[in-house]
Amino acid sequence: MRLADLTAESLLAFWAEAGIDSILSEDPIDRIAAGAIAISRPAPLQTSAIHALPATKTQDVSAQVEIARQMAEACQGLEELQDAIAKFDGCPLKFQGAKQAVFGRGALDAPIIVVGEGPGQEEDQKGIPFVGRAGQLLDKMFAAAGLSDRVFITNSVFWRPPGNRNPTSEEQAVCMPFVERAIALIQPRLLLCVGGPSSKAMLKQDEGILSLRGRWIEWRSSDGKIEIPALATLHPAFLLRQPGAKKMAWADLLTLSERLDRPSR
Ligand code: URA
Repeated sequence: MRLADLTAESLLAFWAEAGIDSILSEDPIDRIAAGAIAISRPAPLQTSAIHALPATKTQDVSAQVEIARQMAEACQGLEELQDAIAKFDGCPLKFQGAKQAVFGRGALDAPIIVVGEGPGQEEDQKGIPFVGRAGQLLDKMFAAAGLSDRVFITNSVFWRPPGNRNPTSEEQAVCMPFVERAIALIQPRLLLCVGGPSSKAMLKQDEGILSLRGRWIEWRSSDGKIEIPALATLHPAFLLRQPGAKKMAWADLLTLSERLDRPSR
């Protein structure tokens, strides 16, 4: 290897270590004036008859939602669903630097399904949701509330948004049929939405998370066949930045476990 290559490699490794994984210029670039940009994407794997086409800037979100719905509904188990998600090409995030699809972890018959925002850097590396610092805090909170074995954890999108930005509503919409299918297969009794972007997408509310959290809202599947009581709470990444807010999240978890263990009349 040439010295220049070694220098570039170690500089890239240093940046990656420091959390810099996308390159942004200081100066804005007028892409419209510069003309259309061709974004090269890997060729889609032809593994399924209902395989989606690669997402393009002009993609029809509702067509991708329909493809996702067909792929999701064909799945009879969570492993099949995980494979279908990995094959789905309709979410633009898949082509924006994500290493792999990140689906779920936890008890396959969990009474609670937890939906976060989207994978971060560590989740993207490992292919498992909520394994970074925020996830470790979430796990500690579930353990303290006696909920560790009673949750299945997934996200509103399955590929890491570049630079950990919030997922867009279009990105969430094309992933939603898979989230809904996970709910249909697991048949949880309660739903916990973690953080603003997940809560807004799942519960179809415009309110900020601080006013949305801690209240029961009925979640309904898009075909209207499933209804589950849902609770929104603060994201653990927010709690790491604002430890004073932990008491609100703790109150939410107690609300959740109280309802789960409430004797049915
Ligand atoms: N934050 C999320 O919302 N989901 C993850 O999987 C990790 C961090």
